Amino acid sequence: MSKKPVRVAVTGAAGQIGYALLFRIASGEMLGKDQPVILQLLEIPDEKAQNALKGVIMELEDCAFPLLAGIEAHSDPMTAFKDTDYALLVGARPRGPGMERADLLAANAQIFTAQGKALNAVASRNVRVLVVGNPANTNAYIAMKSAPDLPAKNFTAMLRLDHNRAASQIAAKIGCAVGDIEKLAVWGNHSPTMYADYRFATVNGKSVKDTINDHDWNANTFLPTVGKRGAAIIAARGLSSAASAANAAIDHMRDWALGTNGKWVTMGIPSNGEYGIPKEVMFGYPVTCEGGEYKIVEGLPIDAFSQECINKTLAELEGEKDGVKHLL
Ligand code: NAD
Ligand code: LMR
Repeated sequence: MSKKPVRVAVTGAAGQIGYALLFRIASGEMLGKDQPVILQLLEIPDEKAQNALKGVIMELEDCAFPLLAGIEAHSDPMTAFKDTDYALLVGARPRGPGMERADLLAANAQIFTAQGKALNAVASRNVRVLVVGNPANTNAYIAMKSAPDLPAKNFTAMLRLDHNRAASQIAAKIGCAVGDIEKLAVWGNHSPTMYADYRFATVNGKSVKDTINDHDWNANTFLPTVGKRGAAIIAARGLSSAASAANAAIDHMRDWALGTNGKWVTMGIPSNGEYGIPKEVMFGYPVTCEGGEYKIVEGLPIDAFSQECINKTLAELEGEKDGVKHLL
């Protein structure tokens, strides 16, 4: 017997990440090859954006995906999020010319307050939310705070792109297959301050740290390369990462929904005080997932260098949180 379709809302659906994401969700790469989906797509009311969305929908139809049980176009989060089981919040306000960081935070605070309220009002009571739109951690925090009737733990931010970037750099350094790397962690904010931590990582059971054995490479090559990868892609492509971001969003949601089989992955999630991070800070942590729930990998020793890195990314997140507190 075929499964009942689940509802997947995607915002910014006519944008570049949307274009790299929707076809993969509809083909079953996110929730499984036996799980029908109904796509509830949100774009801004602007005529150009709505027209672009119509074009994307025509293409989705033309793929004739057997798992695609319905497609809806929306311009209002109150209808787009109705009964949704999964929400991927991709659309956000990009930084415009002359826009200060505070203006960017404020513009996005408005979007994510409204979307959090709409999720609170109309989404499934167990909706799982992934925020991709930047600043992702703070936007996820705002949405969570705007949805007091939903479980706070169901609001997450995307750190998976940083995790995948870190794995790929390590694989290149060691000369191993990226899929053989386990127990990698990324702590903190999706920003250049993130701390990609390979102290516990293994390749086929062998310690990555011992194999690399080069603190200078870690501090002065690896961390800046992973941290500044987004900017490097913008400089090279003239546009921000899209296919790799969509891929990370698929990885994040698939692992959350279907489980990781004991493998560590990184998710930005609201802290409950783990590792000394103040409660509610939306922080990247190593987690495992099972039965549709994530669980933080606890009890890892934090050395002085790691603590310094964690303090730096936490300070940035707390600064962002302070910058929006008057808007909540
Ligand atoms: P894009 O500009 O191509 O598309 C964004 C789309 O969102 C646009 O079509 C726009 O009309 C729409 N949009 C804007 N505000 C909206 C709203 N309130 N409701 C619904 N739709 C809205 O951008 P993109 O390349 O797809 O990137 C989207 C976001 O993802 C950006 O904020 C980008 O910085 C971020 N990003 C995050 C990561 C990550 O790892 N967390 C990685 C890459 C990009
Ligand atoms: C990325 O990490 O690729 C993006 O977050 C960069 C950006 O600013 O959109």
